[in-house]
Amino acid sequence: MIFKIIKFKKLSSTQDKAKELAGKGAKEGLVVVSEVMAKGRGRLNRKWSANKGGLYFSFLLRPKKTNELPFLVFKSAIAVCDAVRKFGLNVSLKWPNDILFNNKKLCGILLEASIASKVDYAIIGIGVNVSNKLPKELSGIATSIKKELNNNISKDKLLREILKQFNKTMAFYPAKTISEWKKRNCVLGREVNVKTFKEEIRGVAAGVDSDCSLIVELRNGKRKKIRVGDVGLV
Ligand code: BTN
Repeated sequence: MIFKIIKFKKLSSTQDKAKELAGKGAKEGLVVVSEVMAKGRGRLNRKWSANKGGLYFSFLLRPKKTNELPFLVFKSAIAVCDAVRKFGLNVSLKWPNDILFNNKKLCGILLEASIASKVDYAIIGIGVNVSNKLPKELSGIATSIKKELNNNISKDKLLREILKQFNKTMAFYPAKTISEWKKRNCVLGREVNVKTFKEEIRGVAAGVDSDCSLIVELRNGKRKKIRVGDVGLV
């Protein structure tokens, strides 16, 4: 895929800008980057703190089917993981879309799609804590590349490396995407706490299904398939 990068100093959210341009017919491969965001958002309508120093971007894809969407999240997570590892930090993946270092969040991925009778577009938003200051309330659960490496890296180089890696993962078949995701994950086999829209469950993350759902095994041996949820490592 050929990427076209457009850079902004400040946006409310790179997701909104990418959506606006997608609505105007922008092509797959458009990448919207912003130095800061006034209203960065995360999954499940959470706020995403986006101060100067972080890498915040959204890119536009035009997948054909809705069942490709979870795979795009996995492919993006693998791409970010491999790119960050190239800079010397041994990060790993938490289902469905977090990149962690020592159990602390270093990067989050957000997928938003416009679906009518078919998928019109999908926008993947990626926020990497590079050298941005993290809010105090996140200090126990989040970290940045600068904090961990004691060194600053170029956000531009990191972006280019992520896109390069993404081009590799885009070629993966579904089963390959899942097996590559599994190789880098830090969740499977561990005790987890999962919050879904309707319940909170505790069990062992037992596997990933062929549609990218998480399989959790409860104490009573029953298995639950989680399509959307928040996973906490216990
Ligand atoms: C999450 O972990 O909940 C996902 C966080 C996604 C943050 C990125 S930063 C670039 C893009 N623009 C946004 O407003 N959010 C995403």
